[in-house]
Amino acid sequence: MSDILKSANKADAVDVDVVILAAGKGTRMKSKLPKVLHRLAGRALLQHVVDTAAELAARQVVVITGHGAMEVEAAVAGSTGATARFDINFVRQEPQLGTGHALQQAVPVLRDDGIVVVLSGDVPLTRADTLRQLIAACGGNKLALLTIDFADPTGYGRIVREGEVVQAIVEQKDASAAQRAISEVYSGIMAMPAAPLKKWLARLDNQNAQGEYYLTDIVKFAVADGVPVVAHKIADALQVEGVNSPVQLAALERAFQRRMALQLMEQGVRLADPARFDVRGDLQCGQDVSIDVNCVFEGQVILGDDVRIGANCVITNATIAAGAVIHPFTQIEGGKPGTQDAVEVGAGALIGPFARLRPGAKLGAQVHIGNFVEVKNSTLARGAKANHLAYLGDATVGERVNYGAGSITANYDGAFKHRTIIEADVHIGSNCVLVAPITVGAGGTVGGGSTLTKDTAPGALSIARGKQVSIANWKRPAK
Ligand code: UD1
Ligand code: CA
Repeated sequence: MSDILKSANKADAVDVDVVILAAGKGTRMKSKLPKVLHRLAGRALLQHVVDTAAELAARQVVVITGHGAMEVEAAVAGSTGATARFDINFVRQEPQLGTGHALQQAVPVLRDDGIVVVLSGDVPLTRADTLRQLIAACGGNKLALLTIDFADPTGYGRIVREGEVVQAIVEQKDASAAQRAISEVYSGIMAMPAAPLKKWLARLDNQNAQGEYYLTDIVKFAVADGVPVVAHKIADALQVEGVNSPVQLAALERAFQRRMALQLMEQGVRLADPARFDVRGDLQCGQDVSIDVNCVFEGQVILGDDVRIGANCVITNATIAAGAVIHPFTQIEGGKPGTQDAVEVGAGALIGPFARLRPGAKLGAQVHIGNFVEVKNSTLARGAKANHLAYLGDATVGERVNYGAGSITANYDGAFKHRTIIEADVHIGSNCVLVAPITVGAGGTVGGGSTLTKDTAPGALSIARGKQVSIANWKRPAK
């Protein structure tokens, strides 16, 4: 037995280094974008894999890049969040001579004392607990393969056994008819101790049907070296399915969305149709939430108890408090969660239909925002209403303010943004222009059609428009 095998018996203490293969071309996507940057549920395929590695508390994550390397590296660098132990380490593979050749490029950055977990950048939905089981199966001294039985194994590497004992992985193009009949396939994911891996990689050749250096050939070397090879077989195909084409990407997206929908429904959320529902981020729901068809949730969205979302809403980075109703065709586009730009909707508020809440909209309880009303970087206190065709930008709006149809805040002077302050109980008539910076004093009234450029005193009626002239018995010009 080699030193490595002896020293690697305390699996718990062994650090995990993850290598993600992401240098391949992805020809079948027929896209300018590198395959691993195509999005599933709002995140790049590779980002899913990196995030899973972060859940494993890996010591190091190495991403092998090649095709579109600069773009791929820029997209996921620094994206690991505050909790990850690692910085992503990128290693280039030029040219791309196969999965074994890809892993050879990582050898200089891999330490000898860890377990190496190999993942594919185009297999996004593997769960961290599955990988933990695979690492446990490796135990620090075995080669552990993640495998699955497929009714149609075409295209995959087959797991060749003698009796129960795994002997080799044979690629589709190199397989005999008898081997092609094997339904157990290699998922592209494996775990093994680093030191023997490095020796096996040095022994790879490209004498096969594709003229590539196959990572899968290390199985025969492990067998030859007396290192046990174990297959950790799972039943959940979604976790090992790869993306090679737009059709597969859409199928995986739908399967993923269906899973999210079922999870939410199990928590009591009522979805009008789980097949017409999309979460591209994190959606948290209280009790008795109902969501009508064709809604899209992006970023971080929190829905309080009894919230109702009408059909065809797109909601990004928002916290919507208990009892609020978002009527159909409303768009909420909050900025980054946890920043001033996130959107807040207060308890019992009524929003839409056809409303647009932009970054920094903060709406208090019982606020009403009606059709074709746009709110940006503005705070509306409890009970304020803007029901029709209006714009509120950079405004602070007090309690119970009524903001008339067609009124706008003129917040931008061409160079700078300015604030509009509308104090409590103000009534702004229809079709008003409030030229910021300006304060409309509490309880004041602004006559319809006014363009206000100066502050108004509390309780005042302000009218700023041409006086009406009516000429009796006016005769229109005639031809
Ligand atoms: C691979 C496995 C096969 C397995 C299948 C599971 C090998 C030889 N075969 O086949 O047994 O059933 O995955 O999906 O490993 N890549 C590089 N550099 C390269 C080539 C590939 O980084 O030179 C990356 C790709 O970007 C991809 C991953 O490795 O993320 C897998 O490559 P791919 O060409 O898709 O391998 P398969 O033919 O699917
Ligand atoms: Ca593949």
